[in-house]
Amino acid sequence: MSVSALVGLQWGDEGKGKIVDVLSRSVEIIVRAQGGANAGHTVKVGDKTHILHLVPSGVIEPRSVGVIGNGVVVDPVQLVKEIKNLEAAGVAVRNRLLLSDRAHLVLGWHKALDVALEVARGAQALGTTKRGIGPTYSDKASRSGIRVGDLLRPDQFRARVREEGGLRNRLLAALGHAPVDPEAVADEALQTLDDLRPLITDTVAFLLQAHAADRHILLEGAQGALLDVDLGTYPFVTSSNCHVGGLLAGSGLPPRALDRVLGVSKAYCTRVGAGPFPSELQGPLESALRERGREFGATTGRPRRCGWLDLVALRYAVLTNGVDEIALMKSDVLVGLGPISVVTHYRIDGQVHRDFPAGEALGRVEPVLRELGPIEDFVGRGSTETELPRVLRDLVALIEDETRARVSVVSVGPERSQTIFRS
Ligand code: IMP
Repeated sequence: MSVSALVGLQWGDEGKGKIVDVLSRSVEIIVRAQGGANAGHTVKVGDKTHILHLVPSGVIEPRSVGVIGNGVVVDPVQLVKEIKNLEAAGVAVRNRLLLSDRAHLVLGWHKALDVALEVARGAQALGTTKRGIGPTYSDKASRSGIRVGDLLRPDQFRARVREEGGLRNRLLAALGHAPVDPEAVADEALQTLDDLRPLITDTVAFLLQAHAADRHILLEGAQGALLDVDLGTYPFVTSSNCHVGGLLAGSGLPPRALDRVLGVSKAYCTRVGAGPFPSELQGPLESALRERGREFGATTGRPRRCGWLDLVALRYAVLTNGVDEIALMKSDVLVGLGPISVVTHYRIDGQVHRDFPAGEALGRVEPVLRELGPIEDFVGRGSTETELPRVLRDLVALIEDETRARVSVVSVGPERSQTIFRS
C-alpha cells in the first residue's frame, strides 16, 4: 500500500482525526489537501487532547512527515499559532512539516468578507465557520488569489496585498463593513515568514518523489462528502472538493497512485451549520445524542445538529468516493440511548428514493426508519469483534449490505486503544 486516502462520509466531524492518528503509526507521510482552518480535527493521546485545524493530524506521530498541500487555503497566522501550540504541548513538528508554495493564503479581507457575506445572506446564511474559506477559494477560482510562495518575495507580496486589498475594501464598503488595512494585512502575514520560510517548498515534487520511492502516504480529507462543493448539499456546503478527487488535485498525486480509500462515518449523523439533514432528530433524543457524543464544533464551539445514521446518504458517499473500507466511529455513544434507528430510504412526494437527491428535493424528504433495538453496554470490554453487542453487529451488517463496502474498523471510545479492527 503506498497511497491511501481517508475521506469523511457525512457532513464532517466523523472522527477522522482519531482514525488518522491510529493509522499514522504505519504511515510515513500525512497530507492535508483541501479545506483550511475550518477543519477541527481532535486527537486524544493519553491525557492530552490536541485540536488541529491546518496541521495534518497524523503529525502527532513523531516519525511522520506532515504536508500541507497545494489545495489547502492557509491562514499563515493561524498556522504559526498551531505549530507553537503543538510545541508547547510537547509535539515538535517544525522539522517535519512542509507547506506548499502553491497553496492559497487566507488574508484579513477573506475573513472579513466571510462575515460580511453571511450577514448579507440574512435568513439564507450558510452558517460558515467564518475562517475566510469561501472568499479565498473564490479568489483562487477567479485567479486573483495570493499564494504561499508569494510570501517569499516580500516587496511583490506587499504590492499584491495593496492591489487586492483595495479591491476587496470596495466590496466590504458596499456591504456596509469596515475596511481592512492592507499594510497591516501585509505586516501580519510577513511576520510569519521567519517561522514559515523553512517549511515552504514544492510539495508536489516532494510527493511525486515519495510516491516513486514507494513511501506510504496518507491523504487526510477534511470536512465530508456531503459538504463537497460539487456533490454535497449545495449551496449548504464548503468551498472545496472534500471527495477523493479533491485530495488528488490538492496534493498533485495522480489518480492511479491511489491504492485504498477509507471512509469514515459516525454510527449516527451530525451536521453543523444550515442546510438539509433528512435524518435530523428533534427534542430529548437529539439532546441526548449531543450530550453523550459531546457534539459541539471543534472550530466554532457551535452545538451540532444530531440525527440517526442515514444509509441513503452513506451509500451515496461511499459510491461517489469509491470507498473500499469504512471506519465506524463513536458507536459507544449509542449505548444506553434506548432503541436506535437508521434511515433506510427516503420518501419524496409519496415516491420511494434510494438515491441521494440534489437541491430542493432534499428539503421534502420524509425519512423511512428501521428500528434496530437498544445497544447494551459494552464499553471497556475486550477488543474482538465477537464481543460487540448484537444490535451493533446488526448495524455493521446493514451498512455493509447497503454500501457494499467493508466496515473494517469500529471505534468504541476516544482512546487509541478503544478501536476494534475487524479481520
Ligand atoms: P465554511 O467551510 O467555513 O465556508 O462553512 C461552510 C459549511 O461547512 C458550514 O455549514 C460549516 O459549518 C461547514 N463546515 C466547514 N468545515 C467543517 C468541518 O470541518 N466540520 C463540519 N462542518 C464544517
